[in-house]
Amino acid sequence: MPSLSSAPFSLLSIFLFLLFVACSPTFTPVLPPSYPLAVRNPYLSAWLPGNQAQDLPFAVPQFWNGQNLTWSVIARINGQAYSLFGVPIPGSGVKAASVQSAEYTSTHTTFTLTAGPASFVLDFLSPISPLDYVRQSLPFSYLTVSTSGTNGATPDVQIYSDIDNSWIGQFGFDMQTSWSYATTEASTSVLTLTPGGTATYSEVNDMAQWGTAVYCARGSNVSAGVGMLDAVRGDFAANGSLSGSWQWQPGSVMGYSQDLGTVSGATNVTFAVGYWRQAAVNYMGNARTAYFTSSCQDINCACVHALTDFEAADTEARTLDATIASKAAGVGGANYSDIVALSARQAFGAIDITIPLDTLDTSDVMAFIKEISSDGNVNTIDVIFPTSPIFYVMAPEYIRLLLEPVMQYLATGDWPQDYTVHDIGSNYPNSTGHNDGNAEQMPVEESGNLLTLAALYYKASGDDAWCNKYQSLFQGYADYLIVNGLYPATQLSTDDGAGEATNQTGLSIKAAVALNAFGVMTHQSNYSEYGEQFATVLYNHSVGVDSGKTHFTLVENADDTWALEFNLYMDVLLGLNTFPTAALAMQTSYYPSVRKPAGVALDSSLDWGKTDWMIFAAATAMAQGVGNEGVRDMFVEDVHSFVSNGLNPIPFSDKYFVENSAGDVQGEWNGYRNRPVVGGHFALMALDGPAQIQIGAGESHRRKERRGG
Ligand SMILES: *[C@@H]1O[C@H](CO)[C@@H](O)[C@H](O)[C@H]1NC(C)=O
Ligand SMILES: *[C@@H]1O[C@H](CO)[C@@H](O)[C@H](O)[C@H]1NC(C)=O
Ligand SMILES: *[C@@H]1O[C@H](CO)[C@@H](O)[C@H](O)[C@H]1NC(C)=O
Ligand SMILES: *[C@@H]1O[C@H](CO)[C@@H](O)[C@H](O)[C@H]1NC(C)=O
Ligand SMILES: *[C@@H]1O[C@H](CO)[C@@H](O)[C@H](O)[C@H]1NC(C)=O
Ligand SMILES: *[C@@H]1O[C@H](CO)[C@@H](O)[C@H](O)[C@H]1NC(C)=O
Ligand SMILES: *[C@@H]1O[C@H](CO)[C@@H](O)[C@H](O)[C@H]1NC(C)=O
Ligand SMILES: *[C@@H]1O[C@H](CO)[C@@H](O)[C@H](O)[C@H]1NC(C)=O
Ligand SMILES: *[C@@H]1O[C@H](CO)[C@@H](O)[C@H](O)[C@H]1NC(C)=O
Repeated sequence: MPSLSSAPFSLLSIFLFLLFVACSPTFTPVLPPSYPLAVRNPYLSAWLPGNQAQDLPFAVPQFWNGQNLTWSVIARINGQAYSLFGVPIPGSGVKAASVQSAEYTSTHTTFTLTAGPASFVLDFLSPISPLDYVRQSLPFSYLTVSTSGTNGATPDVQIYSDIDNSWIGQFGFDMQTSWSYATTEASTSVLTLTPGGTATYSEVNDMAQWGTAVYCARGSNVSAGVGMLDAVRGDFAANGSLSGSWQWQPGSVMGYSQDLGTVSGATNVTFAVGYWRQAAVNYMGNARTAYFTSSCQDINCACVHALTDFEAADTEARTLDATIASKAAGVGGANYSDIVALSARQAFGAIDITIPLDTLDTSDVMAFIKEISSDGNVNTIDVIFPTSPIFYVMAPEYIRLLLEPVMQYLATGDWPQDYTVHDIGSNYPNSTGHNDGNAEQMPVEESGNLLTLAALYYKASGDDAWCNKYQSLFQGYADYLIVNGLYPATQLSTDDGAGEATNQTGLSIKAAVALNAFGVMTHQSNYSEYGEQFATVLYNHSVGVDSGKTHFTLVENADDTWALEFNLYMDVLLGLNTFPTAALAMQTSYYPSVRKPAGVALDSSLDWGKTDWMIFAAATAMAQGVGNEGVRDMFVEDVHSFVSNGLNPIPFSDKYFVENSAGDVQGEWNGYRNRPVVGGHFALMALDGPAQIQIGAGESHRRKERRGG
């Protein structure tokens, strides 16, 4: 029985609890660190930090690197303006809508709100259509605002949305911004902003300085305005349309108003936001442009194309969302599905699919990937390697498209070392090579990665021609590994944050798997035998495991060290059996014994871990003959609780602290954000085989047929 004195307190708590439950939005499947809003390539990358989602009307979206972006949505309902999104300082008389829920899938981020007699859905779509190069390389994302009356109401509704020069990285008031407004075919309106006085291919804090930000709308009831933020938004709030002064000055925005009239059933308006670069990537002095440019050579055409393609892209994206969700849940449960859904846009959002700008030759396709945040390197081999599972699942040819510019560069002989280069350019988008031989040196890491990636592509595609074309280069790196792979000299591994070390067991495991993979790919059993010998030395002869054979070590012959041996995963995925099942089972069952409160660290010397490698280890646990679901679930749960712990309001970090130590807080991110390596979270799904999700394939195949290819 509660005492009399505590009863009122209990009732109050229950009341407050109910009030809280009623007012606080629901987050499906979880509240992520940051929501992808418009994430298509390294320079179109707008996010909403998760900790702002419940205050969406006041929220400030951000570029991936943290710069604030102006992007607002205001609705006018029976003459009353309500901010829905991105209005940190509402003008007088503007009310804030109330956020009901937020949801993300692989391609959509969706918020629902209510305001007066209407409800709203803001649907941010960034399509993923890897095999349709036109759709995939379209440098636009979509925002659809849907509305309907609540409780049978039929309100008059107008929708407003604007952007400003934060989208071109111009935050100073003395910058030269030029703008344009045009209407073109299919009632399409086009607003643009272009920075002045900046160099082609230059960046400031990772934002491109040489392109054009674009905002597109469609319909006969659209009006546009360019002018001071307060004036343009005030015009909309007062009149429900824009008739502004059309003058750009510091502090200006450019926006659209769309009159939806009297709303009875659900009705909607779609905007397309983009970032246009005519020259997208500088490949050895030659300009390359988005593959999309083969369809549209100017911005007006691009806006028309984007809005015309919206429905098809959206339908395809919804199919993709459902397919990824169900396949992921099937191999790793609902928590795993939550992780991969948040990873997909981020992985593809680091990539440009390109063709030469001068010829627009669509048979000369190359893909470029930016390392992002750990640095700005171009096509880093040890970034393509961890990202590769998402390609294997959805588009194995991306492995070739990303390696092609690397192989063409290596084939010139301008890279002077006898091991594989780390990357093909220090600063995206300048892919200018390292003819001085001075890239970040990771000899065994990158040589092993390159051979493994080539074998992975070959396994998925059976493409003999490509592998033969570069076989002599590959063989040179295999020969390098034979000499240097078993007892690696002092050097970095991919996890360069951990520093250099000698005789790293992980590197020699990588060399063993890569040699076997190369042998299988090229039908040369002598290379496979070298790989198997390495494995025998490391495992059977205990050079890479402790004497009690309980775990692989961090450093050879250092029994008391251990590491997360993510390099075993590719042995499993490629089905090579370089290492015996007993070795995989041993290592898998060791992990729970070194699990820290927030996960397994990368190795015995560190207090941080890597989410991509954790999921590689989870997948290794599911190797044939191992099948350790408990360890799989342990890793998935640790990554899931990192993603949902509310401590990290930034795009998905793949590196976080697994325990409290010397000021480091468990569950907090550690330096990296928005890296494409989250594509590695598809490692568990990849075990079900290559190209199991074929999105965009229909269109790409039709195009090939038209070319007669
Ligand atoms: C970015 O927006 C936030 C939230 O409104 C604000 O607190 C912060 O000062 C802004 N940062 C810059 C650099 O303007
Ligand atoms: C790329 O190279 C150009 C010169 O060709 C330079 O102006 C630009 O700043 C470079 N970009 C980056 C990101 O370093
Ligand atoms: C729109 O509203 C503003 C502010 O109330 C007013 O000054 C302006 O004249 C109006 N424009 C039109 C075309 O009605
Ligand atoms: C355009 O606006 C008018 C006036 O508010 C409205 O009656 C009509 O339904 C709107 N048309 C469309 C296509 O939204
Ligand atoms: C938008 O409205 C159109 C026409 O009513 C409808 O077909 C479509 O499904 C709606 N789209 C969204 C994303 O709600
Ligand atoms: C690395 O291993 C080799 C072979 O066991 C050994 O000769 C060498 O001393 C080791 N290097 C270091 C720094 O431990
Ligand atoms: C492996 O065998 C091939 C011939 O089948 C030979 O060309 C190559 O040099 C051999 N490589 C090594 C490292 O023995
Ligand atoms: C290495 O160990 C495994 C597992 O015990 C065993 O099956 C295999 O035959 C051994 N290999 C050699 C070369 O001894
Ligand atoms: C899912 O992950 C959460 C941590 O975010 C954990 O509490 C929960 O037990 C996990 N669910 C399953 C079924 O493993």
